[in-house]
Amino acid sequence: MTFLTLTNIQKSFGAVKVVHDFNMSINKGEFVSFLGPSGCGKTTILRMVAGFEDPTGGTIVIDDKDQSRLKSNQRNIGMVFQAYALFPNMNVFDNVAFGLKVAGKPKDEIHARVMEMLKLIHLEHLADRYPYQMSGGQQQRVALARALAPKPQVLLLDEPLSALDAKIRVSLREEIRQIQRQLGITTIFVTHDQEEALSISDRVVVMNAGRADQIGTPFEIYNRPATRFVASFVGTLNLIEAKVVDPQSRTVAIGDLSVALKEEIKLPAGSTVQLAMRPEAGSIIDGAKGDTTLVGQVLSSHFLGSVIRTRIDVAGNTVSFDMFNDPSITPPAIGDTVSLKIDSADLLILQA
Ligand SMILES: Nc1ncnc2c1ncn2[C@@H]1O[C@H](COP(=O)(O)OP(=O)(O)OP(=O)(O)O)[C@@H](O)[C@H]1O
Ligand SMILES: [Mg+2]
Repeated sequence: MTFLTLTNIQKSFGAVKVVHDFNMSINKGEFVSFLGPSGCGKTTILRMVAGFEDPTGGTIVIDDKDQSRLKSNQRNIGMVFQAYALFPNMNVFDNVAFGLKVAGKPKDEIHARVMEMLKLIHLEHLADRYPYQMSGGQQQRVALARALAPKPQVLLLDEPLSALDAKIRVSLREEIRQIQRQLGITTIFVTHDQEEALSISDRVVVMNAGRADQIGTPFEIYNRPATRFVASFVGTLNLIEAKVVDPQSRTVAIGDLSVALKEEIKLPAGSTVQLAMRPEAGSIIDGAKGDTTLVGQVLSSHFLGSVIRTRIDVAGNTVSFDMFNDPSITPPAIGDTVSLKIDSADLLILQA
Protein backbone atom coordinates (compact mmCIF):
# COMPACT_ATOMS: atom_id res chain seq x y z
CA MET A 1 0.00 0.00 0.00
CA THR A 2 1.49 3.32 -1.09
CA PHE A 3 2.02 5.69 1.81
CA LEU A 4 4.40 8.37 0.58
CA THR A 5 4.28 9.55 -3.03
CA LEU A 6 6.65 12.03 -4.62
CA THR A 7 5.40 13.18 -8.03
CA ASN A 8 7.50 15.20 -10.47
CA ILE A 9 9.47 16.77 -7.64
CA GLN A 10 11.81 19.47 -8.83
CA LYS A 11 14.11 21.88 -7.08
CA SER A 12 16.13 24.76 -8.39
CA PHE A 13 18.38 27.07 -6.43
CA GLY A 14 18.43 30.22 -8.55
CA ALA A 15 19.15 29.10 -12.09
CA VAL A 16 20.60 25.76 -11.02
CA LYS A 17 18.30 22.77 -11.13
CA VAL A 18 19.46 20.23 -8.55
CA VAL A 19 16.46 17.86 -8.58
CA HIS A 20 14.82 16.90 -11.88
CA ASP A 21 11.37 15.32 -12.03
CA PHE A 22 11.81 12.90 -9.18
CA ASN A 23 9.07 10.27 -8.92
CA MET A 24 8.66 7.59 -6.33
CA SER A 25 5.99 5.75 -4.34
CA ILE A 26 7.00 4.29 -1.00
CA ASN A 27 4.89 1.69 0.78
CA LYS A 28 3.83 1.84 4.37
CA GLY A 29 6.55 0.37 6.56
CA GLU A 30 9.04 0.27 3.72
CA PHE A 31 12.73 1.06 4.24
CA VAL A 32 14.10 2.90 1.21
CA SER A 33 17.67 4.13 0.77
CA PHE A 34 18.75 7.02 -1.41
CA LEU A 35 22.22 6.18 -2.63
CA GLY A 36 24.35 8.52 -4.66
CA PRO A 37 27.51 10.60 -4.79
CA SER A 38 27.97 13.91 -3.01
CA GLY A 39 25.86 16.72 -4.43
CA CYS A 40 23.35 14.52 -6.31
CA GLY A 41 20.39 15.95 -4.38
CA LYS A 42 19.71 13.40 -1.62
CA THR A 43 19.53 15.88 1.24
CA THR A 44 17.54 18.33 -0.86
CA ILE A 45 14.81 15.74 -1.46
CA LEU A 46 14.70 14.81 2.23
CA ARG A 47 14.43 18.47 3.19
CA MET A 48 11.50 18.86 0.80
CA VAL A 49 9.76 15.85 2.33
CA ALA A 50 10.35 17.34 5.78
CA GLY A 51 9.09 20.76 4.70
CA PHE A 52 12.37 22.61 5.27
CA GLU A 53 12.57 23.40 1.58
CA ASP A 54 9.77 24.22 -0.88
CA PRO A 55 9.79 22.19 -4.09
CA THR A 56 10.03 24.30 -7.25
CA GLY A 57 7.49 21.90 -8.71
CA GLY A 58 5.68 18.65 -7.97
CA THR A 59 3.68 17.18 -5.11
CA ILE A 60 4.37 15.29 -1.90
CA VAL A 61 1.52 13.12 -0.66
CA ILE A 62 1.64 11.28 2.67
CA ASP A 63 -1.21 8.97 3.64
CA ASP A 64 -3.44 10.40 0.89
CA LYS A 65 -2.89 13.97 2.07
CA ASP A 66 -1.11 16.52 -0.10
CA GLN A 67 1.59 18.02 2.10
CA SER A 68 3.42 19.99 -0.58
CA ARG A 69 2.39 23.36 0.79
CA LEU A 70 2.53 22.54 4.50
CA LYS A 71 5.20 24.02 6.73
CA SER A 72 7.55 21.64 8.50
CA ASN A 73 5.76 22.07 11.83
CA GLN A 74 2.46 21.13 10.18
CA ARG A 75 3.89 17.82 9.00
CA ASN A 76 4.55 14.81 11.17
CA ILE A 77 8.05 13.81 10.15
CA GLY A 78 10.97 12.58 12.24
CA MET A 79 14.45 13.42 11.05
CA VAL A 80 17.96 12.41 12.08
CA PHE A 81 20.92 14.31 10.67
CA GLN A 82 24.47 13.39 9.82
CA ALA A 83 26.10 15.54 12.47
CA TYR A 84 25.01 15.01 16.03
CA ALA A 85 22.23 17.52 16.37
CA LEU A 86 21.28 16.91 19.98
CA PHE A 87 20.68 19.95 22.15
CA PRO A 88 23.99 20.20 24.04
CA ASN A 89 22.45 21.89 27.07
CA MET A 90 19.81 19.21 27.61
CA ASN A 91 20.27 15.75 29.03
CA VAL A 92 19.18 12.63 27.16
CA PHE A 93 15.72 12.60 28.74
CA ASP A 94 15.01 16.22 27.80
CA ASN A 95 16.36 15.76 24.30
CA VAL A 96 13.99 12.86 23.67
CA ALA A 97 11.13 14.71 25.40
CA PHE A 98 11.60 17.84 23.31
CA GLY A 99 9.08 17.18 20.53
CA LEU A 100 6.49 15.93 23.01
CA LYS A 101 6.85 19.07 25.13
CA VAL A 102 6.47 21.28 22.07
CA ALA A 103 3.31 19.33 21.23
CA GLY A 104 2.01 20.11 24.73
CA LYS A 105 1.68 16.50 25.89
CA PRO A 106 0.92 15.93 29.58
CA LYS A 107 3.91 15.31 31.84
CA ASP A 108 3.22 11.68 32.74
CA GLU A 109 2.58 10.80 29.11
CA ILE A 110 5.91 12.41 28.14
CA HIS A 111 7.70 10.47 30.86
CA ALA A 112 6.23 7.15 29.76
CA ARG A 113 6.97 7.77 26.10
CA VAL A 114 10.55 8.92 26.70
CA MET A 115 11.29 5.87 28.83
CA GLU A 116 9.73 3.64 26.18
CA MET A 117 11.99 5.23 23.54
CA LEU A 118 15.10 4.93 25.70
CA LYS A 119 14.32 1.28 26.24
CA LEU A 120 13.98 0.82 22.49
CA ILE A 121 17.53 2.14 21.96
CA HIS A 122 18.87 0.38 25.10
CA LEU A 123 19.92 3.58 26.84
CA GLU A 124 17.48 3.72 29.77
CA HIS A 125 20.45 3.92 32.12
CA LEU A 126 21.80 7.10 30.49
CA ALA A 127 18.72 9.32 30.80
CA ASP A 128 20.61 11.89 32.91
CA ARG A 129 23.69 12.12 30.71
CA TYR A 130 24.49 15.14 28.56
CA PRO A 131 25.53 14.73 24.90
CA TYR A 132 29.20 15.54 25.64
CA GLN A 133 29.28 12.59 28.05
CA MET A 134 28.35 10.07 25.36
CA SER A 135 29.98 8.37 22.39
CA GLY A 136 29.01 9.32 18.86
CA GLY A 137 27.05 6.09 18.44
CA GLN A 138 25.11 6.69 21.65
CA GLN A 139 24.34 10.25 20.57
CA GLN A 140 22.95 9.05 17.25
CA ARG A 141 20.75 6.52 19.05
CA VAL A 142 19.40 9.35 21.19
CA ALA A 143 18.82 11.41 18.03
CA LEU A 144 16.85 8.46 16.66
CA ALA A 145 14.80 8.20 19.85
CA ARG A 146 14.12 11.92 19.75
CA ALA A 147 12.92 11.70 16.14
CA LEU A 148 10.67 8.71 16.91
CA ALA A 149 9.17 9.95 20.19
CA PRO A 150 6.34 12.04 18.65
CA LYS A 151 5.27 9.01 16.54
CA PRO A 152 6.05 10.52 13.14
CA GLN A 153 4.35 9.25 9.98
CA VAL A 154 7.68 9.08 8.18
CA LEU A 155 11.27 8.78 9.42
CA LEU A 156 14.03 10.51 7.45
CA LEU A 157 17.64 9.60 8.17
CA ASP A 158 20.28 11.73 6.47
CA GLU A 159 23.60 9.85 6.63
CA PRO A 160 23.12 9.21 10.34
CA LEU A 161 26.13 6.89 10.52
CA SER A 162 28.71 8.74 8.47
CA ALA A 163 30.51 10.30 11.44
CA LEU A 164 30.95 6.95 13.21
CA ASP A 165 33.75 4.45 12.89
CA ALA A 166 33.30 1.39 10.70
CA LYS A 167 32.45 -1.16 13.38
CA ILE A 168 29.82 0.96 15.11
CA ARG A 169 28.31 1.81 11.74
CA VAL A 170 27.62 -1.80 10.97
CA SER A 171 26.08 -2.60 14.35
CA LEU A 172 24.06 0.61 14.46
CA ARG A 173 22.66 0.17 10.96
CA GLU A 174 21.38 -3.26 11.99
CA GLU A 175 19.89 -1.74 15.10
CA ILE A 176 18.18 1.06 13.16
CA ARG A 177 16.75 -1.48 10.74
CA GLN A 178 15.50 -3.69 13.55
CA ILE A 179 13.81 -0.76 15.34
CA GLN A 180 12.30 0.42 12.05
CA ARG A 181 10.85 -3.06 11.44
CA GLN A 182 9.55 -3.30 14.98
CA LEU A 183 7.72 0.03 14.66
CA GLY A 184 6.72 -0.51 11.02
CA ILE A 185 7.62 3.08 10.25
CA THR A 186 8.04 4.23 6.65
CA THR A 187 11.67 5.30 6.33
CA ILE A 188 14.01 7.01 3.90
CA PHE A 189 17.69 6.51 4.65
CA VAL A 190 20.29 8.57 2.83
CA THR A 191 23.79 7.24 2.33
CA HIS A 192 26.64 7.28 -0.13
CA ASP A 193 27.85 3.93 1.15
CA GLN A 194 26.66 1.26 -1.25
CA GLU A 195 27.18 -1.66 1.09
CA GLU A 196 25.10 0.10 3.72
CA ALA A 197 22.28 0.70 1.24
CA LEU A 198 22.35 -2.85 -0.13
CA SER A 199 22.46 -4.52 3.25
CA ILE A 200 19.50 -2.92 5.04
CA SER A 201 17.04 -1.63 2.43
CA ASP A 202 13.81 -2.99 0.99
CA ARG A 203 14.51 -0.83 -2.03
CA VAL A 204 17.36 1.40 -3.14
CA VAL A 205 17.12 4.56 -5.24
CA VAL A 206 20.39 5.16 -7.07
CA MET A 207 20.63 8.88 -7.68
CA ASN A 208 22.77 10.58 -10.25
CA ALA A 209 22.86 14.37 -10.71
CA GLY A 210 19.36 15.08 -9.37
CA ARG A 211 17.68 12.11 -11.01
CA ALA A 212 16.83 8.58 -9.99
CA ASP A 213 18.82 6.36 -12.34
CA GLN A 214 17.25 3.21 -10.95
CA ILE A 215 14.82 2.21 -8.22
CA GLY A 216 14.81 -1.43 -7.22
CA THR A 217 15.54 -4.06 -4.62
CA PRO A 218 19.21 -4.40 -3.65
CA PHE A 219 19.28 -7.66 -5.63
CA GLU A 220 17.94 -5.98 -8.78
CA ILE A 221 20.20 -2.95 -8.48
CA TYR A 222 23.29 -5.09 -8.08
CA ASN A 223 22.50 -7.83 -10.57
CA ARG A 224 20.62 -5.88 -13.21
CA PRO A 225 21.99 -2.33 -13.17
CA ALA A 226 19.89 -0.15 -15.48
CA THR A 227 22.63 2.28 -16.42
CA ARG A 228 26.35 2.43 -16.64
CA PHE A 229 26.36 4.81 -13.71
CA VAL A 230 24.46 2.35 -11.50
CA ALA A 231 26.70 -0.50 -12.56
CA SER A 232 29.85 1.35 -11.63
CA PHE A 233 28.54 3.09 -8.50
CA VAL A 234 27.08 -0.01 -6.87
CA GLY A 235 29.63 -2.69 -6.13
CA THR A 236 33.03 -3.28 -7.65
CA LEU A 237 32.87 -3.62 -11.37
CA ASN A 238 35.21 -4.75 -14.08
CA LEU A 239 35.07 -2.93 -17.37
CA ILE A 240 36.29 -4.94 -20.31
CA GLU A 241 36.64 -3.37 -23.72
CA ALA A 242 35.40 -5.44 -26.62
CA LYS A 243 34.76 -5.02 -30.35
CA VAL A 244 31.51 -6.08 -31.93
CA VAL A 245 32.23 -8.83 -34.46
CA ASP A 246 28.74 -9.89 -35.48
CA PRO A 247 25.60 -8.43 -33.89
CA GLN A 248 23.46 -11.24 -35.34
CA SER A 249 25.28 -14.00 -33.49
CA ARG A 250 26.01 -11.64 -30.57
CA THR A 251 29.73 -12.17 -30.98
CA VAL A 252 32.35 -9.75 -29.68
CA ALA A 253 36.14 -9.92 -29.52
CA ILE A 254 38.10 -9.31 -26.33
CA GLY A 255 41.59 -9.01 -27.75
CA ASP A 256 42.00 -12.18 -29.84
CA LEU A 257 39.30 -14.02 -27.99
CA SER A 258 35.89 -14.32 -29.55
CA VAL A 259 33.00 -14.42 -27.08
CA ALA A 260 29.31 -15.06 -27.75
CA LEU A 261 27.21 -12.88 -25.46
CA LYS A 262 23.76 -13.71 -24.16
CA GLU A 263 22.68 -10.11 -24.46
CA GLU A 264 21.40 -8.56 -27.68
CA ILE A 265 23.92 -6.25 -29.38
CA LYS A 266 22.33 -3.12 -30.79
CA LEU A 267 25.50 -1.73 -32.36
CA PRO A 268 27.03 -2.47 -35.78
CA ALA A 269 30.09 -4.66 -36.36
CA GLY A 270 33.31 -2.82 -35.55
CA SER A 271 31.81 -0.77 -32.68
CA THR A 272 33.61 -0.67 -29.37
CA VAL A 273 31.56 -1.72 -26.35
CA GLN A 274 32.29 -1.86 -22.65
CA LEU A 275 31.39 -5.10 -20.95
CA ALA A 276 30.72 -5.14 -17.24
CA MET A 277 31.58 -8.11 -15.07
CA ARG A 278 31.30 -8.49 -11.30
CA PRO A 279 34.40 -9.75 -9.47
CA GLU A 280 32.57 -12.79 -8.14
CA ALA A 281 31.54 -13.95 -11.61
CA GLY A 282 34.64 -16.00 -12.44
CA SER A 283 36.77 -18.81 -11.13
CA ILE A 284 40.15 -20.22 -12.04
CA ILE A 285 39.95 -23.51 -10.22
CA ASP A 286 40.22 -26.72 -12.24
CA GLY A 287 36.88 -27.90 -13.50
CA ALA A 288 35.14 -24.57 -12.78
CA LYS A 289 31.85 -24.12 -14.61
CA GLY A 290 31.33 -21.59 -17.37
CA ASP A 291 30.78 -21.42 -21.11
CA THR A 292 33.56 -18.85 -21.69
CA THR A 293 37.24 -18.78 -20.83
CA LEU A 294 39.22 -15.57 -20.47
CA VAL A 295 42.96 -16.08 -20.47
CA GLY A 296 45.28 -13.61 -18.79
CA GLN A 297 48.33 -12.95 -16.66
CA VAL A 298 48.07 -12.52 -12.92
CA LEU A 299 48.94 -8.96 -11.88
CA SER A 300 48.30 -9.38 -8.18
CA SER A 301 46.73 -11.80 -5.79
CA HIS A 302 45.63 -11.01 -2.25
CA PHE A 303 44.63 -13.59 0.30
CA LEU A 304 41.96 -11.89 2.42
CA GLY A 305 40.89 -14.85 4.53
CA SER A 306 37.54 -15.97 3.27
CA VAL A 307 38.21 -14.70 -0.24
CA ILE A 308 41.16 -14.51 -2.59
CA ARG A 309 41.11 -11.35 -4.70
CA THR A 310 43.10 -11.60 -7.89
CA ARG A 311 43.69 -9.13 -10.71
CA ILE A 312 44.56 -10.42 -14.11
CA ASP A 313 45.38 -8.71 -17.35
CA VAL A 314 43.04 -9.85 -20.11
CA ALA A 315 43.95 -8.30 -23.46
CA GLY A 316 44.93 -5.03 -21.80
CA ASN A 317 41.98 -4.94 -19.39
CA THR A 318 42.57 -5.35 -15.69
CA VAL A 319 39.98 -7.81 -14.46
CA SER A 320 39.47 -8.38 -10.74
CA PHE A 321 37.87 -11.49 -9.52
CA ASP A 322 37.15 -12.92 -6.10
CA MET A 323 36.95 -16.54 -5.18
CA PHE A 324 36.16 -18.19 -1.92
CA ASN A 325 39.04 -19.61 0.02
CA ASP A 326 39.46 -23.34 -0.26
CA PRO A 327 42.40 -25.05 1.46
CA SER A 328 42.75 -27.47 -1.44
CA ILE A 329 43.60 -24.84 -4.07
CA THR A 330 46.92 -23.21 -4.83
CA PRO A 331 46.44 -19.44 -4.88
CA PRO A 332 47.58 -17.87 -8.17
CA ALA A 333 50.99 -16.20 -8.20
CA ILE A 334 52.00 -12.98 -9.94
CA GLY A 335 52.92 -13.63 -13.56
CA ASP A 336 51.02 -16.92 -13.84
CA THR A 337 48.90 -17.41 -16.93
CA VAL A 338 45.44 -18.42 -15.81
CA SER A 339 42.15 -19.41 -17.41
CA LEU A 340 39.22 -17.59 -15.90
CA LYS A 341 36.02 -19.51 -16.44
CA ILE A 342 32.92 -17.35 -16.64
CA ASP A 343 29.38 -17.61 -17.78
CA SER A 344 28.75 -15.36 -20.81
CA ALA A 345 25.49 -14.25 -19.16
CA ASP A 346 27.66 -12.48 -16.58
CA LEU A 347 29.07 -10.16 -19.25
CA LEU A 348 26.70 -7.21 -19.56
CA ILE A 349 26.93 -4.56 -22.24
CA LEU A 350 27.00 -1.20 -20.53
CA GLN A 351 24.77 1.43 -22.01
CA ALA A 352 26.53 4.77 -22.05
N1 LIG B 1 20.46 26.28 -0.17
C1 LIG B 1 21.14 26.00 -1.28
N2 LIG B 1 21.45 26.96 -2.15
C2 LIG B 1 22.11 26.69 -3.31
N3 LIG B 1 22.49 25.45 -3.68
C3 LIG B 1 22.19 24.44 -2.86
C4 LIG B 1 21.51 24.65 -1.62
N4 LIG B 1 21.35 23.45 -1.00
C5 LIG B 1 21.93 22.55 -1.82
N5 LIG B 1 22.42 23.13 -2.92
C6 LIG B 1 23.09 22.44 -4.05
O1 LIG B 1 22.25 21.40 -4.50
C7 LIG B 1 22.99 20.25 -4.89
C8 LIG B 1 22.48 19.04 -4.12
O2 LIG B 1 22.81 19.19 -2.75
P1 LIG B 1 22.43 18.10 -1.67
O3 LIG B 1 22.80 18.66 -0.35
O4 LIG B 1 21.02 17.69 -1.84
O5 LIG B 1 23.39 16.91 -2.06
P2 LIG B 1 23.59 15.49 -1.36
O6 LIG B 1 23.26 14.45 -2.37
O7 LIG B 1 22.87 15.45 -0.07
O8 LIG B 1 25.18 15.47 -1.13
P3 LIG B 1 26.05 14.94 0.13
O9 LIG B 1 26.21 13.46 -0.08
O10 LIG B 1 27.35 15.66 -0.04
O11 LIG B 1 25.35 15.30 1.39
C9 LIG B 1 24.45 20.59 -4.61
O12 LIG B 1 25.04 20.97 -5.82
C10 LIG B 1 24.38 21.75 -3.65
O13 LIG B 1 25.48 22.60 -3.77
MG1 LIG C 1 23.51 15.38 1.91
